[in-house]
Amino acid sequence: MSIAITAASGNLGPLVIDELLARGVRPNQIVAVVRDPTKIESLAARGVSIRQGNYDNPPSLAAAFEGVAKVLIISGSEIGRRVQQHSNAIDAAREAGVGLIAYTSVLRASEAQINPVLPEHVGTEQYLTASGVPHVLLRNGFYTENYVAQARQALASGELLTSAGDGRTASATRRDFAAAAATVLTTPSHEGETYELAGDIGWTMRDFAEALERIGERQVVVRRLDAAQHLETLLGAGVPQPAAEFAVEVDQAVAAGELDVYGSDLAELAGRPTTSLEDGLRAALG
Ligand SMILES: NC(=O)c1ccc[n+]([C@@H]2O[C@H](COP(=O)([O-])OP(=O)(O)OC[C@H]3O[C@@H](n4cnc5c(N)ncnc54)[C@H](OP(=O)(O)O)[C@@H]3O)[C@@H](O)[C@H]2O)c1
Repeated sequence: MSIAITAASGNLGPLVIDELLARGVRPNQIVAVVRDPTKIESLAARGVSIRQGNYDNPPSLAAAFEGVAKVLIISGSEIGRRVQQHSNAIDAAREAGVGLIAYTSVLRASEAQINPVLPEHVGTEQYLTASGVPHVLLRNGFYTENYVAQARQALASGELLTSAGDGRTASATRRDFAAAAATVLTTPSHEGETYELAGDIGWTMRDFAEALERIGERQVVVRRLDAAQHLETLLGAGVPQPAAEFAVEVDQAVAAGELDVYGSDLAELAGRPTTSLEDGLRAALG
C-alpha cells in the first residue's frame, strides 16, 4: 500500500515524508512526486520512490499515481493556475483508482471571505467533492515560517507595521502541519472529514513584537495603520503592488479572525501541542 506526496520538492513535502518514515512507513511505500526529480536526490538516497509529475502535464500525473493507494495533493505555488493544476491531479488520481486523496486547503475555507488565497482552495475543494473520489480536507492555517522575512525586517528596523489591529493568527510550524498530514495518511477513518488545522494559541502583532524582543534582545514597536495607510507605506517602501496588496489583504483577514484558533484538530492529529510562535520563530530564524 503506497502513499504518494505531490509537490514533494517544496518545504512541506519532505517534512511529511519524514513524519511518514517516523511512523514506520517503509521508504519504498512512499512515492515522492516532483516535477524535477533532481531536486530531491536526498530522498532517493533514503529509499523513497521518486516519480516525475507536473500539475500541468496530466499523463505524467497518471503515471505517478499508478498503483498508489493514497495521495496527498499538496497545493502548488503557481498562483492563478492552481484550480486547473489541482484538478489535473484529482482526475489522474481518480483514473489511477487511488482510494483516498488528502488535499492541503486553507483554514475556514467554507466561511472566510477576505483571505486572498481562498478562491483557488475553494475551487479545488469543489472539484474534489464533485470528483467522487474519497477524500479528506486538511485546511491548513498559516505557517509560522511565513513571518520570517517580516521578523528579520522588524529586528533590523525595530518596527512592525500592521493593519491587522488586535486580530489573532494561530500559526503553527510546517512540521506541525506535516505531522497532522502523516497521521491522516497512516491511520483509518479520515474519509469525508474536513480538518480545520490551526495552532493552539492565537497571537496578536503585539505578541509577535514581544516574541521578537526576547529573541533579538531589542525593542520592537508595533506601528498600527489602517489598510489604506498600510498599502501606501508598503508601496512607498518599494514593495511591488501585488505583494503589497496581498500583505494588506492578509492583515484584513487576520483582523476579521479568519486565521485565529479553530478547535484542536491540529494538535490532536499531530499528537502533541502545536509549536509556539516564539519557538517556531527561533527555529526558523536560525
Ligand atoms: N499555510 C501556509 O501558510 C502556506 C504558506 C505558503 C504556501 N502555502 C501552500 O502550501 C503549499 C506547500 O507549502 P510549501 O511551503 O511546501 O511551498 P513551497 O516550498 O513553495 O513548494 C511549492 C511546491 O509546489 C510545487 N509545484 C509548483 N508548481 C508545480 C507544478 N506545476 N507541478 C508540480 N509541482 C509544482 C513546487 O515544485 P518545484 O520545486 O518544482 O518548484 C514545490 O514543490 C504551497 O505550495 C502553497 O500552496 C501555504
